[in-house]
Amino acid sequence: MIIEVSAITPGIGAEITGLDISQPLDKDTIARLRELFLRHLVLVFRDQVLSREDHKQFARHFAELHVHPSHRSGLNKGGDPEIFVIDTPADAKQSNGEAWHSDVSCEAVPPMASLLYVTKVPDNGGGDTMFANMYEAFSELSNDLKTLLMGKTAFHDGEIDLRNYGIRLAAGQQYPQASHPIIARHPDTGRPLLFVNGSFTSHIEDIPRWESDMLLSGLYDFVATNARLQCRVKWTPNTLVMWDNRCVQHQAIRDYAGFARYGERVSILDGKPPEAAQH
Ligand code: SIN
Repeated sequence: MIIEVSAITPGIGAEITGLDISQPLDKDTIARLRELFLRHLVLVFRDQVLSREDHKQFARHFAELHVHPSHRSGLNKGGDPEIFVIDTPADAKQSNGEAWHSDVSCEAVPPMASLLYVTKVPDNGGGDTMFANMYEAFSELSNDLKTLLMGKTAFHDGEIDLRNYGIRLAAGQQYPQASHPIIARHPDTGRPLLFVNGSFTSHIEDIPRWESDMLLSGLYDFVATNARLQCRVKWTPNTLVMWDNRCVQHQAIRDYAGFARYGERVSILDGKPPEAAQH
């Protein structure tokens, strides 16, 4: 098998061809994919016909499977706990992940990666996903701001995200919350990255709330409005996209009201909580 790689932008994203990921993959191929994953952060595999088990098996090559807290908390009853369904019917009022975020950063150990397999794309041609490189987001900050943020932690609260979907926890139900470094060190590359996002981060700890709000909203605007950090993936049916959830944020573009889109996501865990980058 000859893997071909075509970068989407110099900083983030690559289309991978020449590989049928439903087939058993040897050690060298997995090692090459790991290398590409760490280099490009977002890998796009098109024209893949995958059963749920194929999807999970491909993900298991990289790490163990994560169970989404909506399953653990009992909010999401039934279904396969290792599959997070992203189903947007034509008449849906809202879809999943419309704001910039990294997946469930409220977990004490957030997933290292997510692998979303989209089988139904909207008939109006919409439903793309944006991805942003959080190494670059950090690197573009001024030295003064880097120094201010280094060593600080932020509180991530899953209920913020639930509220965005109008979901309230019932008495006795629990959802994850965690404190993470704002500037984290990637466990595999050692590079510093910005680790706060508007869907899960509640506040920067140990500073006044208004200062936290000011800093976080500035950082979110910087990520959302800085095209240099970003790439955009246009889905075609049967595409799997794998992204590094430690150093990438993403946003699902809801420009397809009146049309259906369907995908299933598997996330994986390396078991390593985000660690603070050192000065
Ligand atoms: C998500 O994983 O947050 C949703 C991404 C998408 O549907 O494109």
